[in-house]
Amino acid sequence: MCGISGIVHSENIGRNLFNSIRNLEYRGYDSCGMAMLSEGELDLRKNIGGIDEVNALEQLDKMQGSIGIAHTRWATHGSVTQENAHPHLSYKREFVIVHNGIISNYQELRERLMSQGVVFESLTDTEVFVNLLEESYAEHSDLEKSFLAALQQIEGSYSIVMLSAHDPEHLYCVKKESPLLLGLGEGCNYVGSDLNAFLEYTRQAIVLDDGEYVVLGRDDYQIRKVETGEIVKKSILHIDWDVETSKKGGYSHYMLKEIFDEPQTVRQALKIPTEQISGLAEMFREASRAYLMGVGTTFYVANISQYFFSTLADRYYPALSSDEFSVVTVESGDLVLALSQSGETYDTKTALQYAKTSGAKTAAVVNVMGSAISMMVDQVIMQGSGPEICVVSTKAALAQTFIMLRVALELGRMRDYLTQDVYQKHQQDLELFPEMVQQILNEQSGFVRNIARSTSHVEHWLFLGCGVYYPVAMESALKMKEVTYQHAEGMPAGFLKHGTLSMVEPALHSLFFVPLKEQKVLHDRTLIAMEQVKTRGGTVIGIMFQGDERALAVCDQAVQLPQMSALCAPLAQMIMAQMFAYYAALDLGRNIDKPRNLAKSVTVG
Ligand code: G6P
Repeated sequence: MCGISGIVHSENIGRNLFNSIRNLEYRGYDSCGMAMLSEGELDLRKNIGGIDEVNALEQLDKMQGSIGIAHTRWATHGSVTQENAHPHLSYKREFVIVHNGIISNYQELRERLMSQGVVFESLTDTEVFVNLLEESYAEHSDLEKSFLAALQQIEGSYSIVMLSAHDPEHLYCVKKESPLLLGLGEGCNYVGSDLNAFLEYTRQAIVLDDGEYVVLGRDDYQIRKVETGEIVKKSILHIDWDVETSKKGGYSHYMLKEIFDEPQTVRQALKIPTEQISGLAEMFREASRAYLMGVGTTFYVANISQYFFSTLADRYYPALSSDEFSVVTVESGDLVLALSQSGETYDTKTALQYAKTSGAKTAAVVNVMGSAISMMVDQVIMQGSGPEICVVSTKAALAQTFIMLRVALELGRMRDYLTQDVYQKHQQDLELFPEMVQQILNEQSGFVRNIARSTSHVEHWLFLGCGVYYPVAMESALKMKEVTYQHAEGMPAGFLKHGTLSMVEPALHSLFFVPLKEQKVLHDRTLIAMEQVKTRGGTVIGIMFQGDERALAVCDQAVQLPQMSALCAPLAQMIMAQMFAYYAALDLGRNIDKPRNLAKSVTVG
């Protein structure tokens, strides 16, 4: 949660530091601020609102200095106010910090400091730490020692960057259970809570591990262990993400741009070497029990994958939401596969940690290089979807789904559940899919837009599907809620008659994910539910395939996709539903890339 950035340079960095938190805005956008050392004095500006709003008020990009820190916030402790925004100054104004995570023992520390006369301006846990720094400096008169002494007193999870006039050449940074990376430039260095903080300026990065701290200068950096003081040698990662991919291009929103990135994203997923895919399939084959896990969108990707494994490999692996994972007992011999775009989600990380401690093997499909989850598992598949900036996940979710399809297919082959011919045919279908994605994006966006426009006033939706289309409906309903703020409930189409049917009337709209006609059992079951809604006066919208006259006859409006393989059909529908949510939100004037109350990576519990 929240974005951190820091730069040490020899030139004025006001503009660059501002750009870097603008590039992180998707991590949090309640409030933001910057602090710089300007002619020996700490200059701090912060306010509530998005980055551009705050800049209009505070002229962040005009700040002067060659060393500074910045933050964009998604409130956890303390509401959204100017005082609670970061950076936070110590009460004598000698230290300033930005912080992500939670200092769990802040209440008692705050009370102690208050009893000693420290005056707090905010309600945040962060302000406690910066005042501890002030206190330790009074004792040690040495910045590094004071930083470490203050760290000894706090508990919880945190990444912190500190700046002080006592050392105008260095930033002091620490990481514990909240991401922090260094970016190495020429005559300048960067620190950030994710790569996007400095990707525009350098591609050389170092991922910090828990319990490491850094004294970061413009030409030097020293990484040590907090506990022992021992110097740590780290490898430098070359980031091959294209900076352009993290730009909006000509699109009005990142969400739309990222949907249109999907042909490329699927191509990248196809390029993942087969050895990696079969390596993961092998882990499933060897496991006594296996679980699929994610949260939010990735939980639904796990749900969709359940169907892939059962139809392609005759194996049932339960999907669990990371935050509920503790319900299962895992032990040595089990496998837990996590899905995570950011690789930093607290709930997923915690569940993986629990699995590891219990002796299970772990694996993950992750998008962000160097992220905590990518480093903690026994095997990782990097999906290579490029930066996803919009808070709601589209291209990353599609790529993960596609990768899981590949893994299930490999497992089916290994287990001799699929004949070589069937396996080959499925492989060909997968290889054709990027072209198909391109085609449907080009051909269908106008239709989807019209339907979204004519129904954007609808406040309550049912999203319904059978078989694998059921979790597609669930994921699509989540997308709709996230970005339009309208109510959408995903449900199995056959479940509808067991209660929810009572709600059906003309104002309640139902969006059906209609299978291909050749998927006869699923198709019939879906049609029955569509007719049940229609008969009771409900409004029926269908995402279906061409040539399905029976389904078309029941629909008030429909998107008709070209014929395609049954393997890829649910993925194509997922894309249409992403677009539908996008255009509905556009019509409603929603804050599409940064929906209210959300953040892209939720690194707190
Ligand atoms: C947050 C985001 C969701 C996302 C979920 C999991 O809640 O708002 O859009 O699906 O985290 O994120 P991950 O990065 O682990 O896929």
